[in-house]
Amino acid sequence: MKEQDEPYKLFQSWFLEAKNSEEKEPTAMSLATVDDIGQPSVRMVLLKGVDLGGFVFYTNLGSPKVQDIEKNPRVALCLHWKSLDKQIRIAGQSVPVSPEEADAYFVSRPLQSQIGAWASRQSEAMPHRLELEKRVAQFGLKFLGKDVPRPAFWSGFRVVPKRIEFWHQKPYRLHDRFRFDLDDQGNWQKTWLYP
Ligand SMILES: Cc1cc2nc3c(=O)[nH]c(=O)nc-3n(C[C@H](O)[C@H](O)[C@H](O)COP(=O)(O)O)c2cc1C
Repeated sequence: MKEQDEPYKLFQSWFLEAKNSEEKEPTAMSLATVDDIGQPSVRMVLLKGVDLGGFVFYTNLGSPKVQDIEKNPRVALCLHWKSLDKQIRIAGQSVPVSPEEADAYFVSRPLQSQIGAWASRQSEAMPHRLELEKRVAQFGLKFLGKDVPRPAFWSGFRVVPKRIEFWHQKPYRLHDRFRFDLDDQGNWQKTWLYP
């Protein structure tokens, strides 16, 4: 099958292009979740893995985004690469990554980011910036000279896609746009869309 007809292959090809051309953060993507009263929230996260299972990001498990996901695992992602004039939208279900997968990613992070994961109570009210710095120093001392273990409250999710849409800017707003939907047999069905 041609790359144009296989969403994962096409994703990888655009992603590689973006890594080579985007000035900063080609892995940045927006993640939309919905809370229990239907209020959507959107924020940026980093895409840390792509495979045939889906699209992986990591975060603090006590954060509002995870509270949303625990109640409603349906999420959406959007990547936009200015240098390429390309956008990819993904909709699917969030599934926690295994502890082993999260551990493997956590050990690959810089030491200061590992300490930062311990120190941050993500999205909780903070009385003063000094509190954060105090916690960073405390955890830095606690793990001095040791391997920093992954906090139990920090892990990742794989967004398993049901729909992936590709958008490529063209002159006069006559953009290329096509969507892949996963059918009941597990095959991707491609539909061209008006821009
Ligand atoms: C470019 C960029 C990348 C980010 N990557 C992550 C990330 O990978 N994981 C994360 O938890 N937060 C990341 N953040 C911070 C989130 O956008 C957000 O502020 C934080 O996760 C709290 O979100 P929540 O309160 O909705 O849970 C990133 C922010 C930016 C601007």
